[in-house]
Amino acid sequence: MELTVIGTGYVGLVSGTCFAELGNRVTCVDKDASKIEKLNQGIIPIYEPGLTELVQKNSTERRLFFTTDIISSVQKAEVVFIAVGTPPLPNGEANLQFIEQAARDIAIAMNGYKIIVTKSTVPVGTNEKIKGIISEITNHSFDVVSVPEFLREGSAVHDTFHPDRVIIGAEKIDAGEKIASLHRPLTEQIVMTDLRSAEMIKYASNAFLATKISFINEIANICEKVGADVTLVARGMGYDQRIGSSFLQAGIGYGGSCFPKDTHALIQIAGNVEYDFKLLKSVVEVNQLQRFNVIRQLRDTLGSLNGKMIGIWGLAFKPNTDDVRESPALEIVAYLLQQGAKVKVYDPVAMENFRYECNHESIIWCSNAIEASVDCDALCLLTEWSEFKTIELLQIEQVMRQAVLIDGRNVFSKEEIERTNFTYYSVGRPIMNRIQTKMVTKA
Ligand code: UGA
Repeated sequence: MELTVIGTGYVGLVSGTCFAELGNRVTCVDKDASKIEKLNQGIIPIYEPGLTELVQKNSTERRLFFTTDIISSVQKAEVVFIAVGTPPLPNGEANLQFIEQAARDIAIAMNGYKIIVTKSTVPVGTNEKIKGIISEITNHSFDVVSVPEFLREGSAVHDTFHPDRVIIGAEKIDAGEKIASLHRPLTEQIVMTDLRSAEMIKYASNAFLATKISFINEIANICEKVGADVTLVARGMGYDQRIGSSFLQAGIGYGGSCFPKDTHALIQIAGNVEYDFKLLKSVVEVNQLQRFNVIRQLRDTLGSLNGKMIGIWGLAFKPNTDDVRESPALEIVAYLLQQGAKVKVYDPVAMENFRYECNHESIIWCSNAIEASVDCDALCLLTEWSEFKTIELLQIEQVMRQAVLIDGRNVFSKEEIERTNFTYYSVGRPIMNRIQTKMVTKA
């Protein structure tokens, strides 16, 4: 099929490239000329495992094209995907300015029947709005179909090729069926719905996953107080198929460009129809507080943070991405700096993005994990990059001023910690108490 994708962010670039890999001819359009120039040279603006190779392969095989020319791209396409951003407005609502502009651009370019597919996460009713915008501008016939995206950053290519399901919201069976045929090589698990239900499925899914995370984080906080181990509790719960084992990893809470934005947006969507979404408001509140456990543990151990040197391992909101949007690290580092601490930071790929968001004279930018621990009074692990799991902790302990390790992602096992003299805090596991006892006994 001849496809055009508007927007070369995570969703547009990854899904466009994967559709090309399936044998379609895909043109990706973006207004950002420098981005398009780079993509035409095979340079990918985001860190996403496997994506560079796939873009280069499909560009070379002339199935994947990048351009700023929206008119000719729309004119040659049978199906046009809208994959532009819907960033949050100050009140939490999604900003639809880019979606509406894309709809107008498509309408102006139309030269015959097209199917317009919305991939961006949009509030309920937006696809109908898109339909209204287009039909005001053009007399050509068209259909609007909603296909929300469920890929995760860091495993976006894998997720696109192996979706758990594809949701297709359409008003007309023929248009829905055409889009279903495009996705059938990926999965047979295709759910056909109306437009509004498809839009709601996306928000409900993200809100439910965020709820699982805040739920297990609250269980972790209780585990700490009652002496239970949240990792065992989560494992025991996860075997129940009604619960499932994924998204039960306790830690310092969720970040990224999706869960924070979409939970706020759904609260707002509910509020607009006078529904107070109490559960989701609590999910957001729990998540906001969870990251400050790290600060509390630092204060409990070190007292005042003024003048202390704190090492930070991991800045990205999750491993395998350079994305720092809404990363807990941003708020934690900002708080440490405000308290007068010096901060040594290291992340395998997110340093540049972090520096862009938070550049401060008291931040020391390190080129590896060991360097970020030298002379530190405490070390905080905020992102569970696999390279941190393989580091020899005894070596780290020796280069630090004080052997204090705050493991915000429960990366290290009890056995690993017991071989060291670290004062160790993790999330919802009783081993920190044992380590502290050991240290007190030693003293
Ligand atoms: C999320 C959804 O998982 C995707 O299905 C969806 O398409 C995407 O949002 C979106 O709406 O675009 P993403 O934000 O890329 O994907 O990353 P996740 O893997 O879902 O992680 C989100 C956050 O939750 C991360 O900060 C992660 O550290 C945290 N998390 C995840 C936990 O704290 N515990 C867990 O058990 C799982």
